[in-house]
Amino acid sequence: MKDTVPHGTSDFVVVANRLPVDMETLDDGTTRWKRSPGGLVTALEPILHDRERGSWVGWPGVPDAKVEPIVSGGIDLYPVELSSDEVSRYYEGFSNATLWPLYHDVLVAPVFDRDWWHSYLDVNRHFAEETARTAAEGATVWVQDYQLQLVPRLLREMRPDLTIGFFLHIPFPPVELFMQLPWRKEFVEGLLGADLIGFHLPGGANNFLFLARRLLGLDTTTAGVGVRSALGRVTLDDRVVRVGAFPISVDSRQLVEQATDPAIVERAAEIRRELGNPRKILLGVDRLDYTKGIDLRLSALGELLDEGRLDPSDTVMVQLATPSRERVEHYMKMRSSIEEQVSHINGDHGQIGRPVVHYLYQPVDRSELIALFLAADVMLVTPMRDGMNLVAKEYVACRADLGGALVLSEFAGAAAELRGAYLVNPHDLDGVKNTIMAALDPEREQGRRRMSRLHRQVLDHDVHRWAQSFLGALSPVVD
Ligand code: ADP
Ligand code: G6P
Repeated sequence: MKDTVPHGTSDFVVVANRLPVDMETLDDGTTRWKRSPGGLVTALEPILHDRERGSWVGWPGVPDAKVEPIVSGGIDLYPVELSSDEVSRYYEGFSNATLWPLYHDVLVAPVFDRDWWHSYLDVNRHFAEETARTAAEGATVWVQDYQLQLVPRLLREMRPDLTIGFFLHIPFPPVELFMQLPWRKEFVEGLLGADLIGFHLPGGANNFLFLARRLLGLDTTTAGVGVRSALGRVTLDDRVVRVGAFPISVDSRQLVEQATDPAIVERAAEIRRELGNPRKILLGVDRLDYTKGIDLRLSALGELLDEGRLDPSDTVMVQLATPSRERVEHYMKMRSSIEEQVSHINGDHGQIGRPVVHYLYQPVDRSELIALFLAADVMLVTPMRDGMNLVAKEYVACRADLGGALVLSEFAGAAAELRGAYLVNPHDLDGVKNTIMAALDPEREQGRRRMSRLHRQVLDHDVHRWAQSFLGALSPVVD
């Protein structure tokens, strides 16, 4: 962390709710920076590192933090201050108790609160203003995710010289659900401020195109919106907006490099020893979020142990859960119920010094995470709904040894590409249990073939290719 940086000089600006680093205030009142949680940061950080110069506009993760622009990890960071009231209404409220559940199949009921909406509008305007100050004449600006869906339009009004891309990291909902949103027109208009709007899957792109027609009566072409193929278009009076599917990915080569580092390979062996050398290790790695199906996989494990299909003396599950949105009601409830499930399983099936489920409510270092991926025989990725799920891709990228098996929900965006995984319907508990059993003991060659197919897919379609395809589709607008 060093230097302050000037405004108005950036040719390429990422705008996201969070900066890639979070400010943390320690007990003694001093501050330090740590990596921000979530897949958005995992994906975009290597893209900005690749560029000679890149800027990132975002919130430093704590309320009322007045921070000057700084350089961190070679990226110019432009902090946007949020008051405690904005954190509560815009971030915890509208972003995470309205939009997040609405866009994730209404797994919990979204709250439609007019004060929260006004705060969302205000904060989107602050982000647009900070970006307008930061970007150089004619710069490319890439706006990220559901928290900032009004920024493209607001920014275009302030700076018509900019080329603006928008990418949604979460699922775009089915039309019937989106129509619940009282401010649905404002959202479609907000996004149409961009030159290019990207979704993970063609379904999201097509839903958006339908809404532009239905809600705003605009001309659209939908033919050929496919994964990494032709783009759909929305024709406005003075310009055309392109809409397409761009499935995000991970920095696969970097992961392979780390996963083949002898120190990490040794750490993986050590983890197995620390866990008591069980025959099989199951692993879950998530932000603690009700969309992730952590409860479902614990239910599956509990029943398999109760039924004697799994032996608690030779099976261990490790569940890492990063704290997330801890003041939002459904997150608090989810945490309690997951912790109850863990205690229940350990109470029924653990022994002194040998719990069946090792549960950590904390983020771990990247190197430790990769060692855990290497140590795990079965990776459990079982969301009820997920835009992509980078954990699934990280796991298969790390398994250059072709060991391990991936159990993956059909309702994760990643399932569209990772067809060779053990796919499950997370609503079908018996199906999940049977699939976990199959993944635990595949015939060796067949297991390696599956993993080889998955590994190649993620190596070929990495995050750099994702960024190139999005920015490549955005750039003809510049030419
Ligand atoms: P989301 O963006 O919804 O959190 P993703 O699976 O797409 O879900 O991305 C999560 C990112 O956070 C991945 O890079 C994953 O490795 C990382 N992550 C999740 N949980 C942990 C944890 N407990 N410790 C360290 N990293 C974690
Ligand atoms: C998901 C979202 C991101 C978000 C991340 C962490 O990946 O798509 O926009 O940053 O979760 O959530 P948080 O609320 O802590 O930023």
